[in-house]
Amino acid sequence: MNLELNISSKVPTNQSNSVPLLGLGVWKSRPKECYEAVQAALELGYRHIDTAAIYGNEKEVGAAIKDSGIKRTDIFLVTKLWNADQGYEEALKAIDVSLQKLGTDYVDMYLIHFPVSGKRKDSWKALEKSKMDGKAKSIGVSNFMVSHLEDLLKESSIVPAMNQVEYHPFLQDTSLKEYCQKKGILLEAYSPLAHGQKLEDERLTTLAKKYNKSNAQILIRWSLQSGNVVIPKSKNPTRIRENADVFGFTISPEDMIEITSWNENFRTCWDPTTVE
Ligand SMILES: NC(=O)c1ccc[n+]([C@@H]2O[C@H](COP(=O)([O-])OP(=O)(O)OC[C@H]3O[C@@H](n4cnc5c(N)ncnc54)[C@H](OP(=O)(O)O)[C@@H]3O)[C@@H](O)[C@H]2O)c1
Repeated sequence: MNLELNISSKVPTNQSNSVPLLGLGVWKSRPKECYEAVQAALELGYRHIDTAAIYGNEKEVGAAIKDSGIKRTDIFLVTKLWNADQGYEEALKAIDVSLQKLGTDYVDMYLIHFPVSGKRKDSWKALEKSKMDGKAKSIGVSNFMVSHLEDLLKESSIVPAMNQVEYHPFLQDTSLKEYCQKKGILLEAYSPLAHGQKLEDERLTTLAKKYNKSNAQILIRWSLQSGNVVIPKSKNPTRIRENADVFGFTISPEDMIEITSWNENFRTCWDPTTVE
């Protein structure tokens, strides 16, 4: 990984577009907060926004993008197919509903939110069609473990561009990461701040002091230097700024190894490992 990154740095996907390495997550941002957060992020130079149908804020994400005056083509917009909408026909309808709420003709990445048993392959076929129809520039998955990816790849004509999974120093599925790398699937780290639940970790505080950075900045920088695309969420403009101020320093190789040793399978979100 080239360490000379900045807020506009992108990484190519396996499907012809490129994704900005840093994005803003908007899960749990209420509509008004979400509008303001996206507006603040775009002003600061973020060009990647991660929402989902189930977050209930696609309309505000779309409005903030439109009102920003930034060209739609300069923004990487991600949304996701919710579980209740999985299945071929249902998924085709769901993307249209999302596009309408977002006020756009296409998303840059459409993800299957969760590997729902018995449905995910039909959903994937619908995503393939949405890509062919130009409604999604790239398509990918979220919360897919190695077994789900193997199962999908057996029958699909398109390899997912991205797998968005929970990933931070306290939860690292390295075999999943290696598998994704081998297949050319980008790993996108969601809940990179462990949903705010590990920010008080003393080892993290010690390192943050050493680099004169905040605990959150160390976690985000670790993710970037580990080669992940990363989407910290904040509804607070000061923190949105702080979370993007991670490009002017480098964590040393020794400290990267130290942080990487903190894995304790600490999962803050839902657990896809037991899904058949
Ligand atoms: N695909 C999936 O299943 C899935 C699941 C979970 C998340 N995601 C995506 O990933 C994004 C990020 O994950 P996440 O929202 O779970 O958690 P996160 O980004 O790890 O942490 C967010 C929490 O940390 C706080 N925070 C943010 N910046 C901070 C800072 N600089 N200092 C102190 N606290 C800070 C936020 O509070 P404030 O907002 O008050 O600042 C919020 O409580 C989501 O928003 C969503 O887009 C996807």
